[in-house]
Amino acid sequence: MELINRPRRLRGNDSIRRLCRETRMSPDSLIYPIFVDEELKGRRPIPSLEGQYHYGLDCVTDAVAECLEHGVGRCILFGLPAHKDACGSSAWDEHGVVQEAIRAIKAKYPDFYVITDVCMCEYTDHGHCGILHGHEVDNDQTLEVLAKTALSHAQAGADMVAPSDMMDGRVAAIRAALDGAGYQNVPILSYSAKYASAFYGPFRAAAGSAPSFGDRKGYQMDPHNRREALKECALDVEEGADILMVKPAMPYLDVLRECADAFELPMCAYQVSGEYAMIKAAGAAGLIDEHRVMCESAVSIYRAGANMLITYFAKELADAMKEGEIG
Ligand code: PBG
Repeated sequence: MELINRPRRLRGNDSIRRLCRETRMSPDSLIYPIFVDEELKGRRPIPSLEGQYHYGLDCVTDAVAECLEHGVGRCILFGLPAHKDACGSSAWDEHGVVQEAIRAIKAKYPDFYVITDVCMCEYTDHGHCGILHGHEVDNDQTLEVLAKTALSHAQAGADMVAPSDMMDGRVAAIRAALDGAGYQNVPILSYSAKYASAFYGPFRAAAGSAPSFGDRKGYQMDPHNRREALKECALDVEEGADILMVKPAMPYLDVLRECADAFELPMCAYQVSGEYAMIKAAGAAGLIDEHRVMCESAVSIYRAGANMLITYFAKELADAMKEGEIG
């Protein structure tokens, strides 16, 4: 055989394979979701998310300590408030669950980077991501409460805010509120292309945020659409977003690649609860090697263009990256 090109030369052993990796990842690019429950003391396993916990305000810093043990230095906070009402008023309460969690974390770990999810669905008694007008979410009225909420997070010490509601114009509204109060340097991580996905099921069970009627198709994106994701990202860039996000991750890798190519901002991907739960369940059933599938799924998301990843696997992935198993 006179084969000149033998791609297998670069696959001969672990050393050369690691030399030639095209996708590089670091624990610095991982963000771990933390759920804080205002009514809880201690921590409690989340039934829908095997291996994940709800934390009380008394022990939310334990969640941070665990992250730091694995070299994960960033989190995104989700709150389960004691009180819900029609307009989600505890979302912007100065002493709300997220605001208090930020203070508790920052008091003990000032350098731990705290991102907050900004949305209304965990705080409204109807479970929709904004203020209702009849059975519809009123976009422009919702912008006001989102902006107030984001500002209250910044005032409590959040490093970054991440609106996940999918209202039109929310990045601009939040930017204006932050800037107006002197928080020009707090970046916005926008859930830019967030699809109306069935993969959020375990999260909604965990956060108690399922809509009590209807669905989110009137504000989250239709899974059939690709060009619309480019439009959503372009609008967020115009409105002043600092980082763009595609969510979910694995079922939308085409969208992630396209948005990563089209925009100069850093790209975040969210490997959501259903993606995590599927890997855990298939692993527990002995159908797949959970650890290897976890690693491969993360590599795929980065290869598709993510610069950072929000994932319930953050701590385990950080270990795999440090070992050189991936990245
Ligand atoms: C809040 C929000 C959701 C998720 C992140 N922020 C749920 C939803 O939109 O219904 C989902 C995260 C996950 O599934 O892991 N709107």
